[in-house]
Amino acid sequence: MEDAIRKSDVLIEALPYIKSYANKVFVIKYGGSALVDPEIKKGVLQDIVFMSYVGIRPILVHGGGPFINEELEKIGGRIEFKDGLRVTSRETMEVVDRVLSEVNHKIAEDIRKLGGRAVSLNTIKKDVIKTKPHGESKNLGFVGEVYRIEYDRIRKAVRPRSVPVISSVGLGADNEHYNINADEVSSEIAVAMKAVKLVLLTDVKGIMREMKDGDTLIPTLNIKETEGLIAGGVIHGGMIPKVKACTKALAGGVLKTHIIDARIPHSLLLEIFTDKGIGTEIK
Ligand SMILES: Nc1ncnc2c1ncn2[C@@H]1O[C@H](COP(=O)(O)OP(=O)(O)O)[C@@H](O)[C@H]1O
Ligand SMILES: [Mg+2]
Repeated sequence: MEDAIRKSDVLIEALPYIKSYANKVFVIKYGGSALVDPEIKKGVLQDIVFMSYVGIRPILVHGGGPFINEELEKIGGRIEFKDGLRVTSRETMEVVDRVLSEVNHKIAEDIRKLGGRAVSLNTIKKDVIKTKPHGESKNLGFVGEVYRIEYDRIRKAVRPRSVPVISSVGLGADNEHYNINADEVSSEIAVAMKAVKLVLLTDVKGIMREMKDGDTLIPTLNIKETEGLIAGGVIHGGMIPKVKACTKALAGGVLKTHIIDARIPHSLLLEIFTDKGIGTEIK
């Protein structure tokens, strides 16, 4: 009985959120090591299916870094990153293409197994993300940045309650495929689809600051503060594209951006439907 009452309390606490989020687009980026663990993955996808059934319109953007590394190791390819972006030769790009396609279809299949609807986008035909070569460095190879999101393709593909699952590969004007950091893609999609929220799921608690007695989580940061932390080296590597994704999304009209820990069971539901925030919110 006690337990049943507690459960109904939880549902009632969620009601205002469910009401205010009805029909709103949420973009969720999911990748990295958090994608490898089957239990974590199941929890994340269950949360997304749940969201889709309470009237939210989740869009899932994924990476696949560890799977790409695994495949590169098998064929003796080079694994190299600059400021969190993968240096991508033609050979690496072929691996990225193949692996992300597999990851995409597997995620969509898992969503269906959990009772949801999913539609794989941008896998064989790279028709969602128009790309130009990445501006920051000329030595990254086939690394692109988003030039345009074909949001009509996303919109048309989506039936009620079906979750678009989008791979972070883009098509260049030269017809080449380009590898794009999935954080960047999620941010651009959030802006193009007028999302209210961008959530980046990762395998750390959020943005951390090194302290003498261990690392501590920074619960909120504004854009100015993130610039200082990047300049000071506190935020580095793979966290840089995440922070940039959040600040760009905010500038583009997305209302809230969060970096949260996928390893916490049902972290998405906690973040979205309860009063206690988790991870780092960038404002
Ligand atoms: N200040 C910071 N707080 C937390 N993580 C950080 C920070 N600076 C750099 N990182 C690194 O960023 C990583 C997350 O980025 P990444 O490995 O690309 O994850 P994902 O695969 O989810 O994109 C963390 O595992 C950590 O090594
Ligand atoms: Mg990353």
